Amino acid sequence: NAQSPAKIGVVTVSDRASRGEYEDRGGPAIQAYLSEILTSDWIAAPRVIPDDRAGIEQTLRQLCDEEHCCLVITTGGTGPALRDVTPEATEAVCDKLMPGFGELMRKVSLEKVPTAILSRQTAGIRGQSLLLNLPGQPKAIAECLDAVFPAIPYCLDLLE
Ligand code: MTE
Repeated sequence: NAQSPAKIGVVTVSDRASRGEYEDRGGPAIQAYLSEILTSDWIAAPRVIPDDRAGIEQTLRQLCDEEHCCLVITTGGTGPALRDVTPEATEAVCDKLMPGFGELMRKVSLEKVPTAILSRQTAGIRGQSLLLNLPGQPKAIAECLDAVFPAIPYCLDLLE
């Protein structure tokens, strides 16, 4: 999976963004964050998809197995609403769960907003790829990534 440049999946999970009812702000916010923090070359594999469990699973599998993304970051669909199924889809495609990422992101988010308790965001490993869920709220993206990003290069090294 040691692709050069590294490919990173950026998946916006939102019924309304996927229908074009509003502009996707989450995917671009993730890409902007990565552009700031990463020092070596990388390319984004962006997707905007509805809150449909089978479709999310298919997208995640495709990004890991065919696009060989070392990292796949999702935004949206982590809450308690009926249509929120991103964590279930993530867990279904992972070989191994990495619950520490969700725990840490909730902890730091709770210092900003009490509603952070509503996010069921998680992370896991599929093959040599790390999958990471973020909440849909665009401002949550930097808040969450700031907390966990230091662990990501180390985690990816251990997958090689
Ligand atoms: N985490 C951070 N850091 N900042 C936020 O604004 N919003 C919360 C929570 N986590 C939020 C956050 C809210 S209001 C919800 S409902 C849950 O994430 C789930 O959001 P999602 O269903 O869009 O993923």
